[in-house]
Amino acid sequence: MSSRSPGHGVPPASLSQRDLETCLLAEARTLPAPAYADPAFHLFDQQAVFARSWQWMGRTAEVRAVGDHIVAEVAGKPVIAVRGHDGVLRGFFNVCKHRAGPLAFASGNARQLQCKYHGWTYTLDGQLRAAHEMQEAGDFDVRDVHLDAVQVAEWQGLVFVAVDDPGVALEQVLAGIRERIAPMDLTGLQFHTRVAYEMACNWKVYVDNYLEGYHLPHVHPGLNKLLDYRAYTTHTAEWYSYQHSRVDGTQGPYAGGDAHYYFVFPNLMLNILPGRLQTNLVVPVTHNHCRVLFDYYYSDTESEAARELIAEDLRFSDEVQQEDIFICERVQQGLGSGAYQAGRLSPKREAGVHHFQELVRKSYRRALTGKD
Ligand code: FES
Ligand SMILES: [Fe+2]
Repeated sequence: MSSRSPGHGVPPASLSQRDLETCLLAEARTLPAPAYADPAFHLFDQQAVFARSWQWMGRTAEVRAVGDHIVAEVAGKPVIAVRGHDGVLRGFFNVCKHRAGPLAFASGNARQLQCKYHGWTYTLDGQLRAAHEMQEAGDFDVRDVHLDAVQVAEWQGLVFVAVDDPGVALEQVLAGIRERIAPMDLTGLQFHTRVAYEMACNWKVYVDNYLEGYHLPHVHPGLNKLLDYRAYTTHTAEWYSYQHSRVDGTQGPYAGGDAHYYFVFPNLMLNILPGRLQTNLVVPVTHNHCRVLFDYYYSDTESEAARELIAEDLRFSDEVQQEDIFICERVQQGLGSGAYQAGRLSPKREAGVHHFQELVRKSYRRALTGKD
């Protein structure tokens, strides 16, 4: 698939060799300020990180029936996943082979894929079926024309896509999560609501912030009362990190039990509590703007008690989110101020930040050298 990509990224001029070097937790320094504040890093991140990783794009519940499809933009590229007559979910660039029109504007169901520009039609497995008024075109046979494929895979009711070779299977990326959250099974949860937040910071500022509880006492006084800051632990796997805390069920919107906060590289968070899943997808928009999509899922959305709990959950999540947005936007200003180059990390409290930033460095190295 890489033969189709002209390259995996041109390094921004502000990226130095030293920035790419791996560092141990005890010696950890942060990514340098230009990685957050230099506009050239937006395209580099899209190519080096987003195109070459598994990206969450939707839910299995949306693509159960033949002809069901979901569309998304991944690494700045339009993609579509569609359920075929044989039950197989396939992924394609949502780009017609005639003059690059879209096969679908939005998610839905169709018996075939019909381009929205001039109406060429494709089968659900991406083969051009009919191109009207093309009889006089020489050396043109619909049988030779096929949409470009992308990899798709499903896990616990979530659909992922990779527009370029991620070099690792989705199951391997997520290995161990299913076992750790059992008996919870995310497949059984029902989607309830999506809330989108726009914020004036680089996507990595938001991810860094998610990955540590160090800021909890200072930024989230309300949340800090519910979670035991001292018992907040971080574990790292190859492609994800995992924060764990006990939740005091006697206060606030959460039932008592284990809170699991998974961060799956590079931009997906799975916040799992008893009977509840919240996914956060961090979408880069420009070097200093990102969008975070919060989706809420519950085991029960109908009962009176559930409705009250959900309303309180949404209110409380929004409160915490506004606190995070406020601080992240100030951090972005700091990163672009010229008064900051790179800093040190707390080995005790910022192991997740270090793990994420090492994976970013690894992605940059891979894009530039072809090696880890
Ligand atoms: S671009 Fe698809 S039919 Fe013309
Ligand atoms: Fe926070």
